[in-house]
Amino acid sequence: MLVVGGSGFLGREVLRRAVAAGWDAAATYLTRPADLPSVTWYRADLRDPGRVAQVLDRARPAAVINAAGGHADWAVTADGAVQLALAVARAGCRLVHVSSDAVFSGAAVHYREDALPDPVSRYGAAKAAAETAVRVGVPGAAVVRTSLIVGHGRSAHERAVHALVAGTRTGVLFTDDVRCPVHVDDLASVLLEITESDGSGVFHAAGPDPMNRHELGVLIARRDGLDPARLPPGLRSDVDPPGGLDIRLVTDATRARVRTRLRGAREFLGADAP
Ligand SMILES: NC(=O)c1ccc[n+]([C@@H]2O[C@H](COP(=O)([O-])OP(=O)(O)OC[C@H]3O[C@@H](n4cnc5c(N)ncnc54)[C@H](OP(=O)(O)O)[C@@H]3O)[C@@H](O)[C@H]2O)c1
Repeated sequence: MLVVGGSGFLGREVLRRAVAAGWDAAATYLTRPADLPSVTWYRADLRDPGRVAQVLDRARPAAVINAAGGHADWAVTADGAVQLALAVARAGCRLVHVSSDAVFSGAAVHYREDALPDPVSRYGAAKAAAETAVRVGVPGAAVVRTSLIVGHGRSAHERAVHALVAGTRTGVLFTDDVRCPVHVDDLASVLLEITESDGSGVFHAAGPDPMNRHELGVLIARRDGLDPARLPPGLRSDVDPPGGLDIRLVTDATRARVRTRLRGAREFLGADAP
């Protein structure tokens, strides 16, 4: 297995699980490889199609998971994913592509796996373009849309909560921005399960608890013994342009296809405890 973006937050968890499951694992990084024994590392920039093809030639993977993040950078998130899909099509291996709920505007609030993207942000547009390229270029590929990824204190969301409470970062947590957070362990497990299957098309891997970013921050603060009152609330609708507000991934079709149980944020952050 080759995990593109293996040095990232999600990529590392996928690699840990893949190695534990007996996969011979290779991975790419951009700035620094992760400290994971028994993984073969390649430096690769998705903006360099020659290098992407070269890594596939060397690693000769049976399956590729694209967990790379390029935010709103079109050259990485859209064009890079297209180049990777083309290289995978030439190599004839399996492709599992990680996408985002940001492909949706929020106008419909609830989005099933067969909903068509209607992005309202640069990031969402780049992720939507990548999805199309992957599905058309590699018809057997799986596209896995997910939501806010949390877990082990290592996510950007958990780190932001700690920095806001410590006063080392300024900013707000939105109260009008609803998503369905997922635990990184559950997501990594779903990705591995889908990779090991022949499932194609679109999957939704998100938790069952919709909540706004401020609520999520409060749960993280409580779990970590921090004072939630130090988390400043704010409105995404005050930002110009605001991007998607209330976006909830419906997971019914995915839950019928995978064994992994996707926990809600109230459960994995301990808010369900009596
Ligand atoms: N985090 C979330 O809440 C969230 C929500 C929805 C969807 N997603 C999606 O989930 C995936 C993983 O997210 P994440 O939070 O794990 O991201 P992350 O921690 O930021 O990791 C990004 C990975 O991509 C690599 N990368 C960055 N620029 C690259 C480039 N130009 N070429 C090749 N590799 C590059 C990074 O390498 P280095 O670290 O070595 O620089 C790193 O391995 C992404 O597709 C993201 O869109 C994330």
